[in-house]
Amino acid sequence: MTGAETILAYHAATRHHFRRYARSAGHMDWANQPNPFRIYEGAEPISLPLPSVDPDLPYADLYANDGPPAQPFSIATLGSFLALSMGLSAWKQAGGERWALRIHPSSGNLHPSECHLILPAIEGLAGGVYHYAPYFHALCRRALVPSEVWFPLSAHLGGQGCLVALSTIFWREAWKYGERAYRYCNLDTGHVVAALALAARLHGWQYRCISGAGDNQISALLGLDRTAWHPLEEEVPDLIAWVGPAAGESAPQVLPEELVRPFVHLSIQGRPNRLSPQVVDWSIIPEADAAARKPTTPALACRLSADAVSYPPPPGLRAAAVIRQRRSAQAFDPDRSIDADVFLALLDRTRPRAGVPPFTARIFKPAVDLLLFVHRVRGIAPGLYFFCRSGKGADDYRPLCRSEFAWAAVRPGFPLWLLQAGDCTHDAMTLSCHQEIAGDGAFALAMLAPLAALVGARPFLYRHLHWECGLVGQLLYLEAEAHGLRGTGIGCFFDEPVNHLLGIDPEHLQSLYHFTIGHPLEDRRLQTLPAYHHLHR
Ligand SMILES: Cc1cc2nc3c(=O)[nH]c(=O)nc-3n(C[C@H](O)[C@H](O)[C@H](O)COP(=O)(O)O)c2cc1C
Repeated sequence: MTGAETILAYHAATRHHFRRYARSAGHMDWANQPNPFRIYEGAEPISLPLPSVDPDLPYADLYANDGPPAQPFSIATLGSFLALSMGLSAWKQAGGERWALRIHPSSGNLHPSECHLILPAIEGLAGGVYHYAPYFHALCRRALVPSEVWFPLSAHLGGQGCLVALSTIFWREAWKYGERAYRYCNLDTGHVVAALALAARLHGWQYRCISGAGDNQISALLGLDRTAWHPLEEEVPDLIAWVGPAAGESAPQVLPEELVRPFVHLSIQGRPNRLSPQVVDWSIIPEADAAARKPTTPALACRLSADAVSYPPPPGLRAAAVIRQRRSAQAFDPDRSIDADVFLALLDRTRPRAGVPPFTARIFKPAVDLLLFVHRVRGIAPGLYFFCRSGKGADDYRPLCRSEFAWAAVRPGFPLWLLQAGDCTHDAMTLSCHQEIAGDGAFALAMLAPLAALVGARPFLYRHLHWECGLVGQLLYLEAEAHGLRGTGIGCFFDEPVNHLLGIDPEHLQSLYHFTIGHPLEDRRLQTLPAYHHLHR
């Protein structure tokens, strides 16, 4: 099988059907629940200061074309950047159990993403390759990087700044979700990319993926290829970004091999901790992963339009406060609705715009559009809607969908179309694995992508499409908070029934992620503890 055939076969094999869910253990093997915190034993830990004051950026300015002045790189600003992207946000406690939440969400709160940095020497830190340990809010040094190795690389990438890379441990999600876990891991990566890009903006920096970098290059830079992993607990590379002062579209997006090669000779410290006493080999996941590995390529990113935001967020909010308060709703109040302008603002926020984070991350040309289930929006009739955020238009989809759909424009110049009016709470819930959150909120949505067309040519785009969905999800989470609402990502949905509803062939579009937003109902049985109460510094 070709790589494209393998990854598309993976996707087909991990669909949930009404009569059969994708294969998983089917029960929770609590004795082997993976440790959500990766530690590199023997790697020198350097504690980062916990920020006493967050950067004071208005929420609206997170998405402005120009950012605030760049803060200098120091242990304090790096600590603040990581605390506001990869850090813990709170602990929850109930019935003798306690679990940590993080700034970014994760399917099942299992957190498969790990963050690594390659830093120049700054006061208090030697130049090196570091792993970020969120539990300790510390950087663990895996390798020293001599200045003669760092300088040519940093000069190529823009001078002042550092590299921030992500990797994934599939087992953390596979423990609970079995074969479908590879999808969830990639959605999580997209959430993390957005969290990092927005935290960079808070500090006046820009987070720019080096889209041409190959996975082997990332492994070599981080030493992932020279680490003795416990079976099935390895970290695989996702992507690498340059974080530094803002730069234009022409900023480099490739890593010349001669700048990567010296890293292969650096001595790598630290033995990864064992995450579970016993692991299960869901072999379809490493097969899918191998098929979707990214080779070194020319730059992938494309030019985006520079449209202004049509629906500005409420004034007076601080960006860091919104980022810190983000949570998933566990239930929604089905008796409350939202205003049409809030609904339109939430959708508008997902539109890719040049110079605006998180789109400055430049993962790939936007390709994801939204099918909406509108339940309770004042001034907008309940029903099925289509929102073209990627730059495509109704004419691209109309001929492919059910002929009875109206495709009636909702607002002039806004790419939102009514397909069919009527109560769709039941459809939304049913399609999202019968989860009530999809029918009780103000609206729910499915993120649709032309998977077969894009992945057929370049299998690694399977991951990028999921990352784009995660990134859209992260924007929706924050925008919901900003409007006094709450969102929840939904990875559990029945795949083909979404196609049946639209009447569209999976060859053209497939659903990759669902989401729901509304007025949350709080679970008062849960107690909340501060994020870093366990560290007595
Ligand atoms: C990719 C993804 C898929 C998710 N799928 C579901 C889901 O199907 N149902 C659900 O109730 N929550 C879902 N969630 C929400 C997570 O359970 C939640 O993020 C996690 O418990 C951490 O809580 P927090 O978001 O409040 O930090 C999903 C989150 C992500 C990122």
